[in-house]
Parts: sequence; C-alpha cells; structure tokens
Amino acid sequence: MKTCVIIGAGGRGKDSYAPCIEKGNLMKIVGVVEPDRQKREQFQKRYNVEENMCFEDYKEFFAKGKLADAVIICTQDRMHTEPTLLAKECGYHILLEKPIAPTLKEVKLLEREFEDYGKIFMTGFVLRYTPFVKKLKEIIGSGEIGEIVTMSLNENEGFWHHAHSYVRGPWSNSRESSPLIVAKSSHDMDLMLYLIGSSCKYISSYGSNFYFKPENAPGPVPERCTDGCEYKDKCIYNSVKQYTEGKAEYFVHKFECGNKKEDIINALKHNPYGRCVYRCENDVCDHQVVCMEFESGVTAVFTVSAFSLENNRTIKLMGSRGEVGGCLETGEILVKRFSDMSERRIKIDHGTSKHAGGDAGLMEHFAYAVENADSIKEKVDRWMFESHKIAFAAERARVKNIRIKM
Ligand SMILES: NC(=O)c1ccc[n+]([C@@H]2O[C@H](COP(=O)([O-])OP(=O)(O)OC[C@H]3O[C@@H](n4cnc5c(N)ncnc54)[C@H](O)[C@@H]3O)[C@@H](O)[C@H]2O)c1
Repeated sequence: MKTCVIIGAGGRGKDSYAPCIEKGNLMKIVGVVEPDRQKREQFQKRYNVEENMCFEDYKEFFAKGKLADAVIICTQDRMHTEPTLLAKECGYHILLEKPIAPTLKEVKLLEREFEDYGKIFMTGFVLRYTPFVKKLKEIIGSGEIGEIVTMSLNENEGFWHHAHSYVRGPWSNSRESSPLIVAKSSHDMDLMLYLIGSSCKYISSYGSNFYFKPENAPGPVPERCTDGCEYKDKCIYNSVKQYTEGKAEYFVHKFECGNKKEDIINALKHNPYGRCVYRCENDVCDHQVVCMEFESGVTAVFTVSAFSLENNRTIKLMGSRGEVGGCLETGEILVKRFSDMSERRIKIDHGTSKHAGGDAGLMEHFAYAVENADSIKEKVDRWMFESHKIAFAAERARVKNIRIKM
C-alpha cells in the first residue's frame, strides 16, 4: 500500500481527508506535520503515527528527504507555494489544497515549475469527484441534451456560512488569504471548465462587499456580540445565537472547547468568531457575478452570494436538445428532453463524506493516481492552472471594471 504524510492537520487534513483515507483503506498515513501540539498529538494517536514521523513544521519535514510516496498539503492559503516546491524537490506525489496559490504570480510560478514533473500533482477540486457531477458529466457525454449552449451556476453560501468564513474567519481579508472568487469559487471555475470542456475566452465580473461594513450596523455596536450589544436579540448574526443554536453550530468544533453552551460563549469572548459582523474590517465580496464566453461559443454565468438560507450549489446546463440541472447537496437532478417533452428525475446518493461525497471521491482519485502513476500520461492536472487563472481574471475584471480576453 502506498504511504502518505498529511501537512497541516486542521479542518481539511485532520477532519476531512485523513478519515476518508482511513475509511476507504486508500493509503497508509505514515506521518503528520502540524505546529499545534494538541492537534498533532491527537492525529498521531488516532492514526498510530510513529514518533519520528511527527513534525512541527514542513521545512523540518522536507529537510529529511523523501519519507513516503505522497504528501497532502493542507496548510492555509498563504502557505501553499513553498511546501509544494519543497515537496517537488523531494520527488513526492502531491495533492495541494485549493487555492493552489493566493496570487496569480505564484500560480504561474507553479505552472512553470511543474511543467515536466514526473509525479502526480493535483489540487483539492472536490466537486469534480462528487457522484452528482459525475452523473451530470455522464448525461452531457451521452448527448441526451445535445450540444451545451449555455450554463448557469449559483453558489449559495448561506448567510451564516459567509459570516463565519468570509466576515469573521480566515478568508475575510483578501490580503491575508485571497479574494472570494479565488478562495471560495476557484472550485466553481473548475466545475464550469470541466462540464463545458472548453477553455474560457472572455470574462467580465461585478460585485462588492455590499453589506458587512460599519454603515450597515443597526446603531452603535460593540466590538463583540458578548460585550452587551443592545441589538443582540434582533441581530441574525449574533454570534452567541449563531454558534449555540443557529446553523453555525456546525463550526463549533473549530473552537476546540467542547459543546457546552457556557464554554462556547467563553470562546466567543476571545476568538475571531465572537466579533460583530459590522466591525470585522473584512474586504472580500459578499456577492459576485461572473460572465464568461468559452472558445466553443458556450456562455456561462456564475453567481456567488452570501445572501441565501441554505449553503448549496444549484446548476443548470441548457443544450440544443434539452436541459439538465439540479442541486449538488440534495442530489436531485432533472433532465428535460425537447424531442418527446419528457422529464426524468434522478436522485443521487452521495454518502456521508463532506462536500456531497467530493472529499472521499477526491481521495479515492488521488490514491488511485499515486498507485498507478507509472501508467498515467498526464500526471500534472493542467486544468487547475486554468481554473485559477480564470478566478484571478474575474477578480481583475471586477476591480478594474473591464472585460478580459483570457
Ligand atoms: N477543497 C476544499 O473544498 C476546501 C475546503 C475548505 C478549505 N480548503 C483549503 O484548505 C486549506 C486548509 O484549510 P483548513 O480549513 O484545513 O485550515 P486550518 O487552519 O484548519 O488548517 C491549517 C493547518 O495548518 C497548520 N500549519 C500552520 N503552519 C504550518 C506549518 N509550518 N507546517 C505544517 N502545518 C502548518 C495549522 O496549524 C493548521 O492546523 C486552505 O488553503 C483552504 O482554503 C479547501
């Protein structure tokens, strides 16, 4: 069985990918690199990692040379390029979390560096590996809806999810992470490329941080919801309500304080998630639209928005002989055929892994690629560079208010 090391044992490395690898018996996890002692020790115990294969920092790990077949790099956005280049020097098969880099310059650097890499190099575009998207691809490939002419994709973030990650959380400031369209929606750019199967030619984009700023506060508000805010009962973003009884309860495990209400409230007094959403100094968009024309003549519109109740993606592809669309999270697909005016409903079961089965699907694909690397011709996933370039172009088009030729 091939071996792998997890670099960055946080939300992705420890809580998402490692369990998928173990559950699917896909690879042997032989090492962990994580500066946070508690997380590192938890990981070591859970996966029986030898003491000499636990490291605090990736530089220390890579200095030892090649200790496994593959690395899965799950550090934060601004810490992707350096460990990836070090992994290349050692000759690892690499899975690098998306976004592969926080700037266009670094994306281009990685593209150049990996031009002739003889090992697997891919990124965490989990959506491609969901049973839902695989089914869409199969329907498109079958010709049932004819040639694709246009598509729309909506990323409905959920107001509570956006507030957690993109107002209070690590992706709220584009200088510290990357713009929303890169951090969150490079996935979607990839999905559109994948389903349309053609390169993007023109792109324009509009959007802003419309709502989460001081002038939209209901009145004078304290820095934290726990500081006696007089609007706390009516505020839908009140962190105490959100994290103890609202949808953001889902994220409480990140506080590492347990599930007791008083412990959660105590954590909110100090951590970034207790801050008032109108006073977070965030700058990333809370809504953005991207319009695209592809080389094949296909057009597409993508919308990402904080302002939805649910966190899901809805998609519709319109072809010359029919339509196909649905919701990724509910797994419902509707196919309509023009020839006999028929409608066909399909319900996808995507199991229990996160991202509608995409996390498990990605790990299965990566493990398969590592196992069969010798016979795989395209070892480096070239599309990931294009998806990222589209996301950066969309951001540039938005900021400069221009139409970009890719
Ligand atoms: N593919 C997806 O769908 C998806 C979803 C969410 C996040 N992400 C991306 O995954 C990445 C990780 O996100 P996360 O939510 O797991 O973040 P996280 O902050 O929970 O985890 C990152 C971990 O890296 C560790 N780290 C810091 N310095 C390190 C070093 N020098 N060496 C090794 N580890 C170090 C941190 O201590 C932390 O535990 C980000 O780039 C994020 O954008 C991808």
